[in-house]
Amino acid sequence: MSPLPEGVRHFPLYLSPQQQAALVEKIRQAVQAAPLFVPAMPRTGKEMSVRMTNCGELGWVTDKERGYRYQPTHPATGAPWPPIPEILLSIWRDVSGHEKPPQACLVNFYDENARMSLHQDRDEQDFSAPVVSVSLGDDCRFRIGATERNGPTVSLRLASGDVLVLGGQSRLAYHGVDRIYPQTSPLLKNGGRINLTLRRVTA
Ligand code: SIN
Ligand code: FE2
Repeated sequence: MSPLPEGVRHFPLYLSPQQQAALVEKIRQAVQAAPLFVPAMPRTGKEMSVRMTNCGELGWVTDKERGYRYQPTHPATGAPWPPIPEILLSIWRDVSGHEKPPQACLVNFYDENARMSLHQDRDEQDFSAPVVSVSLGDDCRFRIGATERNGPTVSLRLASGDVLVLGGQSRLAYHGVDRIYPQTSPLLKNGGRINLTLRRVTA
């Protein structure tokens, strides 16, 4: 396998199966309070294939009219987002190397056909903090490249319980999810994959 780009760190099976199950339960509770919504691309309104929600003081949302942004409330219910589960805050403290806690936790749910095309995470004001992501459920093929759209990319397989950090020179690296490998994890009763992405938003 090719080496990962500078600033990318992969922690396979960071979470034990028991910790994963406990975290899934926390996410289920969060989804009850803040239902999954269908994100749509700015201007075109084209729907993305993942379903989303958030935890934290700010959540990332996108729709046709107003585009990519962070906001303190759920776009449909208008309620504040639920708090970020403590286990995620402790992962951040362990791997981020950043003194301040994450403000946003984007929850992405992938069914077996969902994907995420190559993009940069750049809607934050503060790029000094890394992006920390946690995978739960079915495996995926994750692709990561350079900070230019057409730079070289490498692929890695992310499995349930893995933590991935995009920091330093790779904080603005292009990345995406090419595919889900169905039925590769027993964690989620109905299959699919959950990705939790922790970020600092303000400086
Ligand atoms: C994202 O880039 O928002 C999601 C990454 C992932 O699902 O692993
Ligand atoms: Fe991303």
